[in-house]
Amino acid sequence: MRSLLLLPLWALLQAWGSSEVPQRLFPFRCLQISSFANSSWTRTDGLARLGELQTHAWSNGSATVRFLKPWSWGKFSNRQWDMLQHILRVYRTSFTRDVQEFVKMLRLAYPVELQLSAGCEVRPGNASENFLHIAHEGNHILSFQGTSWEPAPKAPVWINEVISVLNYDQGTRETVQWLLNDTCPQLVTGLLEAGKSELEKQVKPEAWLSSGPSPGPGRLLLVCHVSGFYPKPVWVRWMRGEQEQPDTLHSDLLPNADETWYLRATLDVMAEKAAGLSCRVTHSSLEGQDIILHWGGSGTSLGLIILAVLVCLVSLLALIVAWRLWLRRYCSYQDIL
Ligand SMILES: *[C@@H]1O[C@H](CO)[C@@H](O)[C@H](O)[C@H]1NC(C)=O
Ligand SMILES: *[C@@H]1O[C@H](CO)[C@@H](O)[C@H](O)[C@H]1NC(C)=O
Ligand SMILES: *[C@@H]1O[C@H](CO)[C@@H](O)[C@H](O)[C@H]1NC(C)=O
Ligand SMILES: *[C@@H]1O[C@H](CO)[C@@H](O)[C@H](O)[C@H]1NC(C)=O
Repeated sequence: MRSLLLLPLWALLQAWGSSEVPQRLFPFRCLQISSFANSSWTRTDGLARLGELQTHAWSNGSATVRFLKPWSWGKFSNRQWDMLQHILRVYRTSFTRDVQEFVKMLRLAYPVELQLSAGCEVRPGNASENFLHIAHEGNHILSFQGTSWEPAPKAPVWINEVISVLNYDQGTRETVQWLLNDTCPQLVTGLLEAGKSELEKQVKPEAWLSSGPSPGPGRLLLVCHVSGFYPKPVWVRWMRGEQEQPDTLHSDLLPNADETWYLRATLDVMAEKAAGLSCRVTHSSLEGQDIILHWGGSGTSLGLIILAVLVCLVSLLALIVAWRLWLRRYCSYQDIL
């Protein structure tokens, strides 16, 4: 009876969920790193990510892009992939040659380090956005916008010479537009479909507390570790009751080897103020059941560990003494006999 009553509510929530809750977006990014040590030594490596997951890798030594996920082929046929791999090989060779020529023409100095970031994001309703940016020594120098190459706002003046050469090459500009406007969204639509369950997986965090190096006399550094969660968005705060502690500091989000994330939230407090503080973790995988860990007063977990080790040592010592006593008594009985 009760479940029947709840049914319309459930249906309503489902309908509301599908139309109102914004769909999570998974931008597709290809990253290329090209190093030119001198006029003869060069290497180019690449990788691609969909959202937070790495899908493809391309090392300098390999003629083809490597597929890192069982769904990295998306919905492209073998023929489409063969064609794409061929285009990428040609691209890598021309890119290397062109950069070497630009360095000569502009009398730039080696080593030269270039990073390229390109990709697209498919939005609900089939709209897509794309981008292609190139950085030199970590500074953004040019982008592809719509139909042509454009300098970045703070690029060095020599970039204008590069841009006029690049924009003169209509064939390449058309290929870039085709890759960005058509190929990329098609590939991503297929990847989103094929990789749906892995992309939308939810992995729960584990959390634990420790104390960091003392920030000063009479002070404590409380550390809340949160690890093993996916996806990335997470909320971690030190709290006193329901009161957020605004001095909470967060580490960078660091990747674990298994495509989950790690984050640390620290709070510097007077030792006597530590009792009553707790660390609160909110994450989509917890479905509203936040993790709350209470700081155990001044006896930190390090203190507990030391205590445990001491107890072990003392028991071991007692055991040895008892064994020796027993041995001595036994031996002396034997001597008497
Ligand atoms: C070019 O750089 C590589 C790697 O740093 C080095 O091993 C090589 O000797 C250099 N070649 C020349 C001609 O300087
Ligand atoms: C990178 O690949 C190119 C082309 O295959 C090759 O000529 C070059 O020696 C490679 N670089 C390194 C450092 O292995
Ligand atoms: C590609 O998209 C850009 C807008 O992002 C547009 O200006 C351009 O005409 C498109 N090119 C082709 C060949 O579809
Ligand atoms: C979405 O775009 C793909 C190609 O990117 C096209 O084949 C498909 O028909 C489009 N779907 C809709 C609903 O517009």
